[in-house]
Amino acid sequence: MTLEAKIAAAAVLLERIQDEFSPATLASSLGAEDMVLTDLIARHAPGISVFSLDTGRLNPETYDLLAKVQATYGKTLTIRVFYPQPDTLQAFVEANGINAFYHSVELRKACCAIRKVEPLKRALAGHHAWITGMRRSQSITRADLPLEEWDAEHGLRKFNPLADWSEKEVWDYIRSHGVPYNALHDQHYPSIGCAPCTRAIAVGEDIRAGRWWWEDATTKECGLHVKNIQP
Ligand code: ADX
Ligand code: SF4
Repeated sequence: MTLEAKIAAAAVLLERIQDEFSPATLASSLGAEDMVLTDLIARHAPGISVFSLDTGRLNPETYDLLAKVQATYGKTLTIRVFYPQPDTLQAFVEANGINAFYHSVELRKACCAIRKVEPLKRALAGHHAWITGMRRSQSITRADLPLEEWDAEHGLRKFNPLADWSEKEVWDYIRSHGVPYNALHDQHYPSIGCAPCTRAIAVGEDIRAGRWWWEDATTKECGLHVKNIQP
């Protein structure tokens, strides 16, 4: 399929989500894929809202992009930002230290649970569908990713409109449509999460090699996408 055909198919899918699953919302980490989806939503299905989970540990470049997204798309789209519950976060940091995620996989997952997974539940409340920027070729944990699925964990439909896009197609779209993107992508960060848990990768390394690089590839999910994690 050509990129033009994939763009057209994604636009049709987003229009369908807007019409049949309202209210629907895009989860945006402000990564390249999520920027493509934000642009497609602004053009074709502006009734879909966009939200970001601000973990409090994002890179300055990511906050700069969030400001740019608010300025560029904020008049067309509803853009929301969710934060961790302060009391839970405070207790966790007091008990385990500010950089607890480096000490064990369990503490890393506990940090993700407080900073991302619980706020995600609030972001999805009252919605009939959510949309993510995940792609099959991003990771071995995403190889079987469907375009559309039932999210039993959160009780709503989940769409991955870019499931079959390649990294090159994502970047061709960004360049040809003048879409804003995270400056870290120009510094060898293909996948961007929280600052302490993300690093640049070397030429030839896997695109998720810079995420939780001290862990095994099979555990590298933060709990936002439960089905990707093998039991
Ligand atoms: S993660 O699970 O490892 O963090 P990744 O960074 O690849 O995920 O992002 C996958 C998808 O999860 C994104 O396309 C986006 O839909 C959603 N997502 C990840 N992080 C966030 C965030 N901070 N805020 C909102 N959505 C997010
Ligand atoms: Fe915490 Fe790192 Fe997960 Fe961010 S990615 S929520 S800092 S463990």
